[in-house]
Amino acid sequence: METKIFRISSIFENPDALQQAADILAGGGLVAFPTETVYGLGADGLNEEAVRAVYRAKGRPGDNPLILHICDTEMLSLLARQVPEQAIRLGLEFWPGPLTMVLPKTARVPDAVSGGLDTVAIRFPDNLIARELIRRSGRPIAAPSANLSGSPSPTTAQHCIDDLMGRIEAIVDGGPCGVGLESTVVSLTGEVPTVLRPGGITVEELQRVLGQVQVDPAVTRPVEEGKRVSSPGMKYKHYAPKARVVLVDAGREAFVRYVNERKGEGIFALCFSEDSSALQAPAVCYGGRAKPEEQAQGLFGALRQLDDLGAQLVFAHCPSKDGVGLAVYNRLLRAAAFEVVTL
Ligand code: TXA
Ligand code: MG
Repeated sequence: METKIFRISSIFENPDALQQAADILAGGGLVAFPTETVYGLGADGLNEEAVRAVYRAKGRPGDNPLILHICDTEMLSLLARQVPEQAIRLGLEFWPGPLTMVLPKTARVPDAVSGGLDTVAIRFPDNLIARELIRRSGRPIAAPSANLSGSPSPTTAQHCIDDLMGRIEAIVDGGPCGVGLESTVVSLTGEVPTVLRPGGITVEELQRVLGQVQVDPAVTRPVEEGKRVSSPGMKYKHYAPKARVVLVDAGREAFVRYVNERKGEGIFALCFSEDSSALQAPAVCYGGRAKPEEQAQGLFGALRQLDDLGAQLVFAHCPSKDGVGLAVYNRLLRAAAFEVVTL
C-alpha cells in the first residue's frame, strides 16, 4: 500500500491535511500521528476491523490491549462505565497530558481494543495535532506506539517511516515528541491506584493528588513465566534494539572504567552527555546526567541510532530511579531484558 505523508507545521496552517488524515481514520484506515509522548498508530477505536488492522501492521500480540485517545469528556463517558472520584481528580490535574487511566469499560469498547479485559485504558493527549485529529474524526482513536512490535517507540515521523512505510495509510509528521517516553499508565480499578507503567507524570505527582499510590512490581522486575499480569504489555520484551544491552548500575568513574576495560569490535556505550569524552568505546548519549526529562526525550532515538551504527553489545549507564528517572529506568531494563550489572 502507498503511505501518504502529511507534514503539519501547525493546526492553523494545515487544516486541510489534518482533515484528510481524520477522514482516513473515520473510514477505517490507519494513521500514525504525533502526541506529546511518542507517535501513535491511530485507528477508529470503535471499529473492530480497523483495530485488528493495527495489530497486523505492528505485528503486535492480540492480548496486549490498546489505549483509547479522547479529546473531550463526552468521549470519556461513552467509554468508561464508571469514572471514580480519583479519576476526576487526576483528570483535573493532569489532562490533557501524558497520563493514561485504566477504568471499567462500557459495552461500546470492542474486545479487540481491551484485549478481552473488562477495563479500558483512556488518555487525553496534550498535543494539538493529536487532539484536532481526534476531534475531526469524531471518535475515540485507538493508538499504540507507531513502531513495529518489539522495536523502540517512535519519537519522530522518520522513525514511523522506518518501521511502517507501506504498511499503513498515512503518517502525519508534526515534528519530534516532547516527552519522548510513553504515558504513565495508572489503574483505578482496584483498592489502591496502581502505576502499571511509569512515564512523564511521576509516581510522586500522582501521590501528591491521590495520597496512596502503589507501583506494580512488574515495573522494575521481570514477570515470571505463566504469571498473570495487570498490564499485558509488561510481559513482552519492549523497546529493544537489535544489539544486546547490558544496564550498568554504577557511579561515573566505575562506569567509565568498566566500559574502557571491555572495548572491542561492535561494543558501544550508551551514556550521559558529560561522560562521552572519557570513554574509549564509541558512545551514544541519551541526555545529561542530572536531567531525567532530557534522558526521556533522547532514549528511544539513541537506541535506534545504536542499531544504525551496527552495535552488537551496548553498555548502558543506569539513570536515577526516581521522578521521571523511574520511567527511563523501566524502559532501559526492558531494552536490556533485565540484564543488569551492579558495581
Ligand atoms: O504515550 C502513550 O501511551 C502512547 C501514545 C501513542 O499515546 N501509546 C502507547 O500505547 O504507549 P501502547 O499500546 O504502546 O501501550 C499501551 C500500554 C500497554 O502496556 C498495555 O498493556 C496497557 O497500556 N494497557 C492498555 N489497556 C489496558 C488495560 N485495560 N489494562 C491494563 N493495561 C492496559
Ligand atoms: Mg508500545
